[in-house]
Amino acid sequence: MCGIVAGISKDNLNKQVIESIKYLEYRGYDSAGACFLDKDSNFKISKHVGKVRDLNKIVDENEKYYLGIAHTRWATHGEVSLQNCHPHVIDNRIAIVHNGIIENFQDIKVKLENIGYKHNSQTDSEAIASLTKYYIDQGLETADAFRKTIKDLKGSFAIAAIDSTNDNELYVANNDSPLVLGLGDNGNYVASDQMALLEITNNFSYLENKSIGIIRRDEVIISDFSGKRITPKVNKTKVVKQKSNLKNYKHYMHQEIHEQVAVSKNLVNKDLVLNTKDTLDIDNIYKNIQKIVIVACGSSYNAGYVAKYWFEKLLNIETIVEVASEYRYHNYTQSQNDLIIFISQSGETADTLAALRDSKTKPHLFDIAICNEKYSSIVREASAYIDLEAGKEIGVASTKAFTAQLICLIKLGLKIASYRLDNYESFKIIESQLLELPEQILEVLEQEQQIAAIAKKIYNKTNIMFLGRNTHYPIALEGALKLKEISYINANAYVAGELKHGPLALIDNETQVVFLIPENNLKEKNRSNAEEIQARGGNIILIHDQVCGEKQKSSTTSFKVGKTNYETSPIVMNIALQILAYYIALFRGNDIDQPRNLAKSVTVE
Ligand code: G6P
Repeated sequence: MCGIVAGISKDNLNKQVIESIKYLEYRGYDSAGACFLDKDSNFKISKHVGKVRDLNKIVDENEKYYLGIAHTRWATHGEVSLQNCHPHVIDNRIAIVHNGIIENFQDIKVKLENIGYKHNSQTDSEAIASLTKYYIDQGLETADAFRKTIKDLKGSFAIAAIDSTNDNELYVANNDSPLVLGLGDNGNYVASDQMALLEITNNFSYLENKSIGIIRRDEVIISDFSGKRITPKVNKTKVVKQKSNLKNYKHYMHQEIHEQVAVSKNLVNKDLVLNTKDTLDIDNIYKNIQKIVIVACGSSYNAGYVAKYWFEKLLNIETIVEVASEYRYHNYTQSQNDLIIFISQSGETADTLAALRDSKTKPHLFDIAICNEKYSSIVREASAYIDLEAGKEIGVASTKAFTAQLICLIKLGLKIASYRLDNYESFKIIESQLLELPEQILEVLEQEQQIAAIAKKIYNKTNIMFLGRNTHYPIALEGALKLKEISYINANAYVAGELKHGPLALIDNETQVVFLIPENNLKEKNRSNAEEIQARGGNIILIHDQVCGEKQKSSTTSFKVGKTNYETSPIVMNIALQILAYYIALFRGNDIDQPRNLAKSVTVE
């Protein structure tokens, strides 16, 4: 999983390619590399283990190149090393960069090794270069060798390849991984995302899935895998590059936590907009929903899980929430009255995108994407989308996008209720409660130092357990996920009522529990669970609103979020958990914005 950029131009593109690849850092950041063809038909290769932003330190800026490819890596096959870093070059003839996973790479590599071909890396991607070289050795022209190779590959890919004997062509292909063509005045480019090319051109064409292209300086030839020509539809993009400046903060995550007051203020004060390409009979859609299915990954899944509780309560409609990587691979049923909701911050998560594509082939009433990137693949392919409007999220651990997802989801629930329910007036109270949310978030942020002090006490723990019930169970899941992502502490979340069925065995006086106890009908049940933990020596950090003060034990540290309402409480309590995770990671000295082994957008299965 990775990001790729490639270009062929009459102008020197050395700097352009290197600057462009930096915009794809969100797709992977463990190593990076570039390969250019010089005037003597030699490949100039630079590889670097570490952040893509440091790549220009090793590429000579003064050199002029007119054909080049670049890559930022998130390792799938083979450790993070120079050897496994792209571009992969075979026999100084073919160089490739690849995003995706080649599932039959072992077969290809072994077959070629048996007839004398040598490989230098443990990657799946290298098989693309060596197979192309094999077909060239069999007498095929490079374009035909590349086409034949693509047909042999199983898996997902966006590929750019160059041939050291031909400085007039760039070869590209995609299958289930996005690839955009950028058309410039003096040359043409491809990238995993148009953001990477915005400084070069505004004219883009997202390649149809399963396309192959020969890109020249003044011509692009695109066809499908069978060779049938496709005329790319070129659009002038309206995307404006969003500045991602760190203001008064050391980390983007910290800044993004604080941006949640503004993000929530914007969303709660406006009508929820369902963006569609076609005119819709919304009345008919909302009134006919019989089941809601929510599909997502990571934090987006946790947001969907909170919405399950909201939708079932507000709408009395059965709501199922599924992890995208599971949804696509089990024999799920979809009925003609199902509303399917895909939630994704990036709009590029491979599993969610594949689940969307798969679900489109089965009966359903309508599908909606909830995304923060309105030009993403998921938005392009869904029937309608809701824009999170959270602004660019840079920190790998999602914070403000998660909060925006929750607000959009509850507003969607209210919107559907307004079409279906005669007693909608009774829900107006929730609308007015939502207006109080920015103030409630601010109140938690103002107590940040109190949470930092709690983090100071526990940042050396090796295991932390998060507990909650109802809408606060997915928040416990999200709290544990946030902590895992950036602190590398083993953190797990459980439904508080399930304690007695196993997790209680983990409790001793070393155990740290974070327990979410809001003021609601389950408060007494939660208190009993807290007692059970304390009776076994466990230490509790109690996150609460109005409740519980008088019953605290010395083994309890408590943090009060301030005033919340029943429905806003999970959103507000989550802010406290974000701050807790942030400070724990800070005290541990971790790379908060780019934690090890992760990526902002996961574009492979
Ligand atoms: C990655 C990110 C998470 C995110 C998940 C789903 O794992 O690190 O922060 O929640 O992907 O991403 P999406 O863009 O689909 O919400």
